Amino acid sequence: MSAPYILVLYYSRHGATSEMARHIARGIELSGLEARLRTVPAVSTDCEAVVPDIPASGAPYATLDDLRHCAGLVLGSPTRFGNMAAPLKYFLDGTSSLWLGGELVGKPAAVFTSTASLHGGQETTLLSMLLPLMHHGMLVLGLPYSESALLDTRGGGTPYGASHHAGADGKRQLDEHETALCRALGQRVGATAKALEASRG
Ligand SMILES: Cc1cc2nc3c(=O)[nH]c(=O)nc-3n(C[C@H](O)[C@H](O)[C@H](O)COP(=O)(O)O)c2cc1C
Repeated sequence: MSAPYILVLYYSRHGATSEMARHIARGIELSGLEARLRTVPAVSTDCEAVVPDIPASGAPYATLDDLRHCAGLVLGSPTRFGNMAAPLKYFLDGTSSLWLGGELVGKPAAVFTSTASLHGGQETTLLSMLLPLMHHGMLVLGLPYSESALLDTRGGGTPYGASHHAGADGKRQLDEHETALCRALGQRVGATAKALEASRG
């Protein structure tokens, strides 16, 4: 049996969401738990499309076992038309066996997203990402306003989860408030998972 870990499961096409994932992982580690970074492959509507090779660098692709055995989950996606990206939804749609077995029930979970425009749907995406996690019986965590960055931010950051405004060209780096909120979210999920594990003895 491996040490308890928090799964940071995300999709990122151009790197903004994966940068958030790294800050969230740092927050998880600050709570004393391991962060396990995993991504999912792209999907295509083109039946002739060649399935992409496993990338030589970056996070490995997630397996159902990564999800089954996690102590908590932080789920991330770029916003696409105000919703999560299809590759992540496709992965989640393959988790029925975990749902049938109630394997995620009672585990803490949180979400994060990146957008091109500041008001381009961060909050709708975050809320829609929470829905399948609630079907799985996970304990949903957001960000409290005791995190001062929530009040100070001029970029991303919401009570529903961490967010980043990457700009139209995707080149805007995470600012100090967005970074602080990513770390706070990871730390919150990690600390909650630890407390829950301790209470179970
Ligand atoms: C198909 C598609 C739909 C998108 N929809 C939105 C959107 O609704 N709102 C928005 O602000 N950005 C939208 N974007 C931009 C991405 O959310 C943004 O570039 C994000 O930062 C990419 O994250 P990544 O670098 O992790 O891939 C869309 C991008 C694509 C390709």
